[in-house]
Amino acid sequence: MPLWETYYTPTSIEETLSLLAEHGPRARLIAGGTDLLLELERGVREAPVLIDISRVPGLDGIALDGETLRLGPLVTHNRLVASATVRERAFPLAQAAWRVGAPAIRNRGTLGGNLITASPAGDTIPPLVAAGAILILRSVRGERQVPIREFYKGVRQVDMAPDEMLTEIRVPAAAPGERGVFMKLALRQALGVSVVNAAVTVRLEKGIITRSRIALGCVAPTVIRACEAEGVLVGGPLTEDPIVEASDLAARVAVPVDDIRAGAEYRRDMVRVLVRRALTALAEGQERGGFPASPPLLWGRSDGRFPRLAGRTVRHTVGGDEPIECTVNGQNHVVRGANGKTLLRMLREDLGLTGTKEGCNEGQCGACTVWLDGIVVLSCLVPAPRAHGAQIVTVEGLAQGKELHPLQRAFVEEGAVQCGYCTPGFLMSGAKLLEELPNPSREQILHGIAGNLCRCTGYYKIVQAIEQAAALSH
Ligand SMILES: Cc1cc2nc3c(=O)[nH]c(=O)nc-3n(C[C@H](O)[C@H](O)[C@H](O)COP(=O)(O)OP(=O)(O)OC[C@H]3O[C@@H](n4cnc5c(N)ncnc54)[C@H](O)[C@@H]3O)c2cc1C
Ligand code: FES
Ligand code: FES
Repeated sequence: MPLWETYYTPTSIEETLSLLAEHGPRARLIAGGTDLLLELERGVREAPVLIDISRVPGLDGIALDGETLRLGPLVTHNRLVASATVRERAFPLAQAAWRVGAPAIRNRGTLGGNLITASPAGDTIPPLVAAGAILILRSVRGERQVPIREFYKGVRQVDMAPDEMLTEIRVPAAAPGERGVFMKLALRQALGVSVVNAAVTVRLEKGIITRSRIALGCVAPTVIRACEAEGVLVGGPLTEDPIVEASDLAARVAVPVDDIRAGAEYRRDMVRVLVRRALTALAEGQERGGFPASPPLLWGRSDGRFPRLAGRTVRHTVGGDEPIECTVNGQNHVVRGANGKTLLRMLREDLGLTGTKEGCNEGQCGACTVWLDGIVVLSCLVPAPRAHGAQIVTVEGLAQGKELHPLQRAFVEEGAVQCGYCTPGFLMSGAKLLEELPNPSREQILHGIAGNLCRCTGYYKIVQAIEQAAALSH
């Protein structure tokens, strides 16, 4: 069963709003697709009409306007991580984005998608609740501004009509003396859904706290504020006693559930631990510790923005013969019959490029990693029509003629391959890492391949191969 019937790629906000008005509840916007494709696959959502906004201009800006940070909904997590303005004026948001998934998820997953999915575990929501962000929603009927705290109505429920779209997120920039931190507890460092997360901010004037915000995720149907805990901090210095009291009070407002990741009691106790750690880090001025100065983004020499599509709205129908015209490994292709597939399936079934592997089909293993317009993405989470007008590189395109890529040679020489199923994905991530950071540290390599899983090698030889390829190219 195809996951959608019609796939539109509009090229302006106005065209997008008209399509939403025309198709109503049958339609759904798709940005990075990292949430929506899985929802469609699992049958928790139906959307016969998909409207791909990922190439609509004017929706991916990051700008400081006076004391307000104006963010487009298409800003990806990796662009939040890389932005000096976001790090400077909304640091907890940059930290939260850094903890989302792994590099390829952060390259496609957007801030807007994370906010609209409205998962209680969505990592970017607590920093925006703590900052008091305003969401701008547009439809053909006009524009609305909704404070983020009023936007969430329950688990995955938001105050947004079917014909509306999120067009901007306005975030009050941190004032002088205001500092904040985001903390997340997950079952693993990368690709881990939050068990508990928290954004904590304090404004200090002459050593006295004049304002504090504590926003907690995963412990209620929506992200909540711990107002009583915030209150006990205000009016005094940030010292041990108020930190302990505020952490205890924060744990009391949590109403978590038991689920596969953690029990309710454990979650509640972890709120206490996380808030205490956050406040202690702020007291010691250590909140930026651990945030990488040069994080691997896996977008090579690009700026992480996907190129726009010229012209008017393009339509692809399942069963129709509208072609997907794209360049794969430097060759132009016109593909018919793949309009309802993922890019992974199109590459393998229609173009015979079987080097790209299907492992999990849900973004968790990295076996399907390819480059989309020079940026590392997971082809199992990219609809094939998204490739229309784009340039794709697969593992078959890594070698130059008969000359293997230096990383391919290093994999052979270091014995970094056993069954080989994961190898194309590691090569595509590793080669892009080396393009971006020709001399990566061990830590940067580990972050760069954090989204690629291997069940055979134990990773050591893969890491050594990347180090060897880096050394060879100097
Ligand atoms: C392997 C994996 C790991 C992940 N790890 C994390 C994690 O650690 N933390 C975390 O928070 N999330 C995580 N996610 C979830 C996901 O990547 C993020 O929520 C991402 O930000 C969603 O953005 P998107 O652009 O992919 O959204 P999409 O899937 O394109 O859309 C999500 C929803 O938002 C709607 N939408 C998108 N843009 C707009 C708009 N402008 N206006 C109105 N509606 C809109 C869509 O209709 C859809 O309902 C993970 C996902 C995967 C697959
Ligand atoms: S991440 Fe795409 S198949 Fe596993
Ligand atoms: S070599 Fe077998 S999964 Fe990595």
